[in-house]
Amino acid sequence: YYNEDAPVLDDAEYDKLRQRLIALETAFPSLILKDSPTQKVGAKSSSKFGKIKHSVAMLSLDNAFSDENVAEFVARVKRFLNLAEDASLAFTAEPKIDGLSASIRYEKGELVSGATRGDGQTGEDITANLRTLGDVPKKLLGSGWPDVLEVRGEVYISLDDFAAMNEAQELAGKPAYKNPRNAAAGSLRQIDPNVTSTRPLHFFAYAWGEISSPIAPSQYEAVQMFAQWGFSTNPDMKLCRSTDDMIGQYNYILERRAALGYDIDGVVYKVDDLSLQERLGFVSRAPRWAIAHKFPAEKAQTLIEAIDVQVGRTGALTPVARLRPINVGGVLVSNATLHNEDEINRLKVRVGDRVEIQRAGDVIPQVLRVMGDVSERSDDYKLPEQCPECGAKTQRDIDEKTGREDVVRRCTNGLNCPAQAIESLKHFVSRRAFDIDGLGVKQIELFYDKGWVKQPADIFKLNFDSIAKLEGFGELSASNLKGAINARREIEFERFLYALGIRHIGQGNAGLIAKHYLLWEHFYAQIALARKHRPHYLKLIAIEGIGPTLANNLIDFAQSESFKNITSMSNDKFFSICSKFKVPKVGEKKWIKIFEAFKLYAGEDLIWNSFHDTLIHGSENISREAYAELTNIEGVGLEGSAALCDYFERKSNQAIVFNILEHVQILTAQAPSLESPVSGKIVVFTGKLEKMSRDEAKAKAQGLGAKVSSSVSKKTDILVAGPGAGSKLKKAAELGIKTLTEDEWLALIG
Ligand code: IVH
Repeated sequence: YYNEDAPVLDDAEYDKLRQRLIALETAFPSLILKDSPTQKVGAKSSSKFGKIKHSVAMLSLDNAFSDENVAEFVARVKRFLNLAEDASLAFTAEPKIDGLSASIRYEKGELVSGATRGDGQTGEDITANLRTLGDVPKKLLGSGWPDVLEVRGEVYISLDDFAAMNEAQELAGKPAYKNPRNAAAGSLRQIDPNVTSTRPLHFFAYAWGEISSPIAPSQYEAVQMFAQWGFSTNPDMKLCRSTDDMIGQYNYILERRAALGYDIDGVVYKVDDLSLQERLGFVSRAPRWAIAHKFPAEKAQTLIEAIDVQVGRTGALTPVARLRPINVGGVLVSNATLHNEDEINRLKVRVGDRVEIQRAGDVIPQVLRVMGDVSERSDDYKLPEQCPECGAKTQRDIDEKTGREDVVRRCTNGLNCPAQAIESLKHFVSRRAFDIDGLGVKQIELFYDKGWVKQPADIFKLNFDSIAKLEGFGELSASNLKGAINARREIEFERFLYALGIRHIGQGNAGLIAKHYLLWEHFYAQIALARKHRPHYLKLIAIEGIGPTLANNLIDFAQSESFKNITSMSNDKFFSICSKFKVPKVGEKKWIKIFEAFKLYAGEDLIWNSFHDTLIHGSENISREAYAELTNIEGVGLEGSAALCDYFERKSNQAIVFNILEHVQILTAQAPSLESPVSGKIVVFTGKLEKMSRDEAKAKAQGLGAKVSSSVSKKTDILVAGPGAGSKLKKAAELGIKTLTEDEWLALIG
């Protein structure tokens, strides 16, 4: 039924047998076999449907949770587009449907294929099922549609239909669907389209993928075209001309929420002008031109029955409240996160308390507050000093940047801690990482318990004869597993990096990094260089009032002869001499802070020596550039860079990577755009740009395959200088680097 798409009995017979099996197993639990159908999690999604690669990726949306977040979004968009704060800019506002997105392709007006979103790049082929939906035209109506048109939108089920479906499930003795979205998903992913056709599925069209010619100049008009071509479109879409208008529409939709008859979880705003959408583009997996304004979370009260501590992949200890199960907005909730020990102390929560909890979308429910007076309670709850999983010491790290304790307490045992090891292994084989067919959570746990797989490299050394002898395996599945593992001995750079499970390096960032460095070896060498620069840089930005720009100004200054030549100076002269240096934006007040900081750093040593060392080492060009290049990758930034440096700093992590590389070859990533005249070039922007914002210029350059850096060096290929350019322009002239005006740059990139 699931895997071979060739059922030997009908649904009703199958369900009867399954119910009988469940009854028997409940009565005689010791007879449950490991390979019993009741022990299987479900279908392997990969074999149930064919795959369709989206020609244009299906993106997700960033979220806004407050009116301020919306105002920030609007300001961000205007800044990017170099528009004045008070410039008028239109947005559409429409309900965010809580269903599943689908992409439906038409060629010459005929429906040819349809797919789920999948991981955004590749979805499942559900053409036959989508054809059964009344809201989806098999042939487009009217005229004017492009030859190739991919219409995207949301498949959903109404609340009434959901209730009716669950009644029917109950009558048939089948489990109820958790919510309308699950019911819609289950109905849409039927092997037999005849089953789907009996399900009350609807579709709203709100976006598009590939189109062979433009359909309209604006978002609003494009959706109107969809309606003319025979699609259902949401009647509550409105064109808004100001932030107030947008919030107004949000409140209007929120008020009407209950009357809509289908689940929505917020309002989506989109820049209306499609040429502006194009300029805005996207960052990793979400467009810059849209945002989802989420509705407030649903709340409820219940009792805390216990507080457990979980250890995650990165060793973080998370206290979890076990709750008396309660229905919150249609979902049964029995666990809530308490985040960390500070949070427990803030809430002063204890086992046995009645608490208010909230649930928003798919995120883990949270405890909001304890009902009743807790003011007399102490706030010295501490997570265990010993890891509950391995007994090793736990600690809260000191944040290098702020000097304060990190809120998260972590087990210090790394992959020697079984919880961390298992969680990292599960992550390693997860769908967006190595994605090995037949090697899921259950198998990882089993192989780990047997001592066969302790670290990722062990997966590639498994003994399949022993696996074949395990209960529930046999020759065939062992040999299938072997094939699936062998198929992954070559892996994309992006998947490999993501699989390592480094903090802040999700699929999006991993992709950006792979596209940037292309070759794993190159990336690895650059990280090693960046790691050399980082401690010096951190010493500077740890100082109050010194951010990345001033740190770089100081480091630039260190290259001047007047600085280099001062080999020593007594502590009492430090301030009076330094405060006369001409370092852009570093005035007397900043020098006081620098003096105080380096007094601490220097300890017994002379302050000047410590300061001089930091700046001289910090100005070592190759490591400085490697660091700047890394932090400049959009999306990666300072946080991602820090996490990468930290990860690869650890010898144990280096060993894990080397061990995997004995079995696995990392494929070279594809350069984003090979045609462009600037691909692979290192570009620096300086001075004021007049036609576009610095952010847009950077994004555009990166989109064309250029690397954007913030400092000029011998490696720089092009300096784009606007009015007011200063030291960078001078340096570029000294080094003989090609310098362009903004107009010349625009002409170059076409
Ligand atoms: S626009 C490039 N509009 O929300 C942006 N998405 O959280 C494409 N969704 O994957 C999405 N209602 O499944 C858009 N009116 C709406 C939506 C909507 C629901 C879903 C969609 C998307 C998810 C992102």
